[in-house]
Amino acid sequence: MALSYSSNKLLLSLFCFISTVGFNLKAVIANSNTANPSATCNSKRRAILPPPYSDLSSLSCSLIWNQKFSFSFYQDGQNVTTIVLSGKHNHRWIGVGFSRNGSMVGSSAVVAWVEPNGVSGIRQYYLEDKIMSKVIPNKGNLKFTTARPVVVVHGDLLYMAFQLQFTASLAFQPILLATGSGNPYQNGSLPKHTNSTTTFIEFSTAHHLTAQPMSPDDLRKYHGVTAIIGWGVVTPAGLLVARYFRHLEPSWYYIHSSVQFVGFFVGIISISLGRNLYQKVGAIFIAHKFLGYTVFFLAGLEVCQFVGRPSSDSKRRQYWNFAHYWVGRIAMVLGVLNIFFGFYGVVAHDRAMRIGFGISFVTLLTATILLEARRRREDSIPEAMIDQPPVFQVIDKTSTTGHR
Ligand code: HEM
Ligand SMILES: *[C@@H]1O[C@H](CO)[C@@H](O)[C@H](O)[C@H]1NC(C)=O
Ligand SMILES: *[C@@H]1O[C@H](CO)[C@@H](O)[C@H](O)[C@H]1NC(C)=O
Ligand SMILES: *[C@@H]1O[C@H](CO)[C@@H](O)[C@H](O)[C@H]1NC(C)=O
Ligand SMILES: *[C@@H]1O[C@H](CO)[C@@H](O)[C@H](O)[C@H]1NC(C)=O
Repeated sequence: MALSYSSNKLLLSLFCFISTVGFNLKAVIANSNTANPSATCNSKRRAILPPPYSDLSSLSCSLIWNQKFSFSFYQDGQNVTTIVLSGKHNHRWIGVGFSRNGSMVGSSAVVAWVEPNGVSGIRQYYLEDKIMSKVIPNKGNLKFTTARPVVVVHGDLLYMAFQLQFTASLAFQPILLATGSGNPYQNGSLPKHTNSTTTFIEFSTAHHLTAQPMSPDDLRKYHGVTAIIGWGVVTPAGLLVARYFRHLEPSWYYIHSSVQFVGFFVGIISISLGRNLYQKVGAIFIAHKFLGYTVFFLAGLEVCQFVGRPSSDSKRRQYWNFAHYWVGRIAMVLGVLNIFFGFYGVVAHDRAMRIGFGISFVTLLTATILLEARRRREDSIPEAMIDQPPVFQVIDKTSTTGHR
C-alpha cells in the first residue's frame, strides 16, 4: 500500500512544521510571558549580554520613565534579583537606586557610565544626602552576587546588568532612576543628576503571574532525559524495527515511521533545551554542542529525504538509497555517542539518568546482536543492504515495494 506523492508532501510539511515548533519551543513560551509589546522590551538582546544576563526572554520587562527605559528583572526563590536596565546612551551616567520609602536620602544606587574613550564602569553609591560629598562611592547596602555587573553599549542603547542578593524578597518596591551629564571624577565622586524620578516596580508579580524560567539544573535534567529518550532509545529502536521486523508486512512500516516520528520530535526538544542551557551557562563544551547539531542536521536530512530522490527505476536510486541508509546509521551512532559526551561533561547528581541510559543501551545492544545473529542464521531474507530503509524514514514505502 503505497502512500501517494501528495500525502508524502503533506507529511513532510507537518514534520518540518513540528520540528520548527519543537526547536523554538522555549522561545515561544518565553515570549508569551513578556506582556509588553514595546520595541525596547522585545529587542533581541540575547547576544548582547554575557550569562547570567543573556537570556532576557525569561525576565519580566516593563518600560519606565516616560517609556524611555526598559527595566527587566527576575527574582528567584532565594531573594536573588537579576536586573537589566537599558536606555538611550545620551547621558553620562545612569543610576538605579533602591529606596525604602521612595526618597533619595538613605538609599543605595548602582550607577553605570561610559567614558568618552569608550571605557565603561559600574559602581555602587550610598546616597547619604543630597550633596555631592554625601553621595559616597563604593558604599551602600546592596549586595552583589558572584555574577559580575556589566555595562554594554549596543547601538545607541546602554545596557546595565547586575544581580543583587537581598535579605528579604522584593514586593512593591520604589526604584529611583537618575541620569547625569558628567562622568564620575577620578576620586569617584558623582556629578549631580540632570534628571531623576521615582517609580514603583511590582517584583512579586513575576513570581505569581508568569511561568518561572527553568533553572539550569532543571534544563540540564530535561535536556538529558529527552536526549536519552529521543536519540538513545526511540530512534535506535525504530531502526531495529525497520531492519529486523520487515517480515511483518505491512505493519512494520507504520510502526517504524511513527516510532521515528516520535523519536525525532523528542530529540528536537532535547536540542532546543540544550540550546537554552548553553545560553544560560555559557558555552564551554563545544564538542557536545557541535555533535548535537550534526545529529540534528543528519536527522533532518533523513526526514526531508525524498526531496531530490531519483525515481525508483533510476540507476542513481540505488546509490541514493545506500547513502540515505548510511546517513541514518551515522546519525544514530553519533546521537548515542553524544549522550556519552553529555554525561562526560556533567560531574554530579544524575546517577538515575546514567543508570537508566546504561540499562537501555545494554538492552538495545543485546537486542541488536541477538537479532543480527538470528537474521544471519536464518539467511532466508535475501541480503539487500542497498535497499535498507533509512533510520528516519517516514514515507519511503515505494522503495520497498517497487510500486509507484
Ligand atoms: C552626586 C550625586 C547626587 C546629588 C548631588 C544629588 C542631589 C539631589 C538633590 C539636590 C535632589 C533634590 C531634587 C533636585 O534638586 O533635583 C535629588 C533628588 C533625587 N535624587 Fe539625587 N543626587 C545625586 C545622586 C543620585 C543618584 C545616584 C540617584 C539614583 C540613582 C538619585 C536619585 C534621586 C531621586 C530619585 C531624587 C528625587 C526624589 C527625592 O528627592 O528624594 N540621586 N538629588
Ligand atoms: C525616608 O527615609 C529616610 C531615612 O531612611 C528619611 O531621611 C527621609 O526623610 C524619609 N523620607 C520620607 C518622604 O519619608
Ligand atoms: C527570602 O526572603 C524571605 C522573606 O521575604 C525570607 O523569609 C527568606 O528566609 C529569604 N530567603 C533567603 C534565602 O534569604
Ligand atoms: C573629587 O573631585 C571633584 C572634582 O575634582 C571635587 O569637586 C570633589 O570635592 C572631590 N571629592 C572628594 C570626596 O574628594
Ligand atoms: C528630563 O526628562 C524630560 C522627560 O523625560 C526631558 O524632557 C528633559 O529634557 C530632561 N531634562 C534634562 C535636563 O535632561
